[in-house]
Amino acid sequence: MSAASLWSDVLETPAVLVDFDRMERNLSRAASYAAEHGLALRPHVKTHKSPHIGARQIALGAAGLTCATPYEAEVMATVATDLLVAYPPVGALRAARLAALPAQVSLTVALDSAQAVADMASAAASVGRRVGVYVELDLGMHRVGLPAVDAAIALARLVAAEPSLDFAGVAFYPGHVREHVHSQDAKLHVLQEALDEALSRFARAGVTPRVVSGGSTPTLWRTHEMSGVTEFRPGTYVYNDRTTVAIGACTRDDCALTVLATVVSTAVSGQAVIDAGTKALGREPVRGAEGEGFGELLEHPEVVVMRMSEEHGVLDLAASDWRPQVGERVRVVPNHVCIVVHLNDVVHGIRHGVIETSWPVAARGRGERVVV
Ligand SMILES: Cc1ncc(COP(=O)(O)O)c(C=O)c1O
Repeated sequence: MSAASLWSDVLETPAVLVDFDRMERNLSRAASYAAEHGLALRPHVKTHKSPHIGARQIALGAAGLTCATPYEAEVMATVATDLLVAYPPVGALRAARLAALPAQVSLTVALDSAQAVADMASAAASVGRRVGVYVELDLGMHRVGLPAVDAAIALARLVAAEPSLDFAGVAFYPGHVREHVHSQDAKLHVLQEALDEALSRFARAGVTPRVVSGGSTPTLWRTHEMSGVTEFRPGTYVYNDRTTVAIGACTRDDCALTVLATVVSTAVSGQAVIDAGTKALGREPVRGAEGEGFGELLEHPEVVVMRMSEEHGVLDLAASDWRPQVGERVRVVPNHVCIVVHLNDVVHGIRHGVIETSWPVAARGRGERVVV
């Protein structure tokens, strides 16, 4: 792509645009926050799935990167030497794929079962590598993680007894804290009590974690209030989205990613149809609330995508004086940016109306091979 291309001239729609100035601001702000509070920032790459951005996060001081899938880890191993796979390494194939990451990568996994310990230990032993382990605690999310501290301590001991594993710490994900930043106190208080209890019992049991890994975008700016946490793993903060704005963890001006779309029909009065539907935007509500649409226009925030088919997004014009022409282009701020990235092949980085660079969403999908 020519460095001087005006995106309005060269891009077919729908297309994903990233405003580089906004993205840089988001990355720098979190990096400064981490440095100010002495926290290790280990961004979750599931939002961008791009080694270019992973490299930028490392350059800005990230301690390493967090991945969910083996493919994300394989792609990020090209730019980072310290990777956390914050997903249970269950199953011989998944564990073997992780163990086969390049030898220079320091690999840590988060897990919550004896089966995952056995799978990861045997895969690591068979290639002669040592893998760090965070024992996952459930501090209120109720997804993965052990709710009982005794069970978590027993698992840490099991890890410590495996020569190919190193008990490196504990992890939790505060993904249940989705309230506005000014209304998170009650849940953060409960979480802190559970964390305090877990950490003191781990210490009493003689299995003190070196790392306590937590963090999310909705709680990003309150991480330093979580006593005991040494590392945080925000993902969405790189681009932000309508949900992050609704939670108050960023402003509208911090939304770096938009979907460029073309108005393809105004035939039905009171609405306009764009060429971005569920296959470009996903179908995620804002913070679980129905009725707020599936995205809003960057230049006309009063206009939301109220309905969608796979390739059609219906804009509700009821609250607006703006009446678009067929062929006009608009930019949609999505509800949940991670899904949008996952649904699209290429991202275009723009500055002042010009495409600076385009990159593939390199860690999109599973990196699967066709087997027969
Ligand atoms: C284990 C884990 N850590 C960190 C994150 C990052 O959360 P957020 O996108 O809110 O920053 C996620 C998100 O799904 C996650 O599952």
